[in-house]
Amino acid sequence: MPTRKRFVAGNWKMNTTLAEAKALGAAVAKGVPSDSPVAVAVCPPFPWLLPVGEAIKGSAVALGAQDVHSEKKGAFTGEVSPAMLIECGCKYVIIGHSERRHILGESDSAINQKLHTALDEGLHVILCMGETLAERDRSLQERVFQRQVYAACAGLTDEQFGRLIIAYEPVWAIGTGKVATPEQAQEAHAFVRGKLRQLYGEKIADALPIIYGGSVTPDNTAGLMNQPDVDGALVGGASLKADSFLAIVKAAS
Ligand code: G3P
Repeated sequence: MPTRKRFVAGNWKMNTTLAEAKALGAAVAKGVPSDSPVAVAVCPPFPWLLPVGEAIKGSAVALGAQDVHSEKKGAFTGEVSPAMLIECGCKYVIIGHSERRHILGESDSAINQKLHTALDEGLHVILCMGETLAERDRSLQERVFQRQVYAACAGLTDEQFGRLIIAYEPVWAIGTGKVATPEQAQEAHAFVRGKLRQLYGEKIADALPIIYGGSVTPDNTAGLMNQPDVDGALVGGASLKADSFLAIVKAAS
């Protein structure tokens, strides 16, 4: 039976003032025990990375960013490189979030390039994927997962797969209060793991954490985590309050 450590990350999106971010980081850091069985990360907005990094310093909570550029350096106004994130103390970066895919038009190939650059530079990547409501209504979700996994992971080395986490985030569940049922999540995660097994082999597929995101709350976490292929959560709204985020971490333990 494969053992995958559970992972819970808070994606703060474009929320919090500086003071709120520092307080939230400090409260989360205080609430996660050093021997936590769950790996925990917070992903604040770019300008708050350094101060939140300070607030969680020495704790069991890691720092992550919400996006990164696909090139290592150069004339890319407004962009942030993997090396900059690492220098700010980031261990993780989220890539391919549906808000970037659907609002900002990020393509599968752009996501693949970002993945390569981020992993080459040493970051751990939380790769988001998931279907829209229209795709689910037409029973196209598995085709979407297959395309997204295939495109995003093309060309990764075995070592790089060791620093990859996949977050299944059905677009219809994000910020809607309409969480996927544990069965829907399990079905999607099992399909993705099966695809990874087919494409990259048993070892990679069994070791890779697949976490769920989309309206996760303290109340629905345990049900999701009881599923064999659900290895944690990527939390949006509920990560903005320390008590609810910590309750989710506890429920995932
Ligand atoms: O990345 C987390 C996410 O998109 C889910 O957001 O607010 O539904 O938990 P939320």
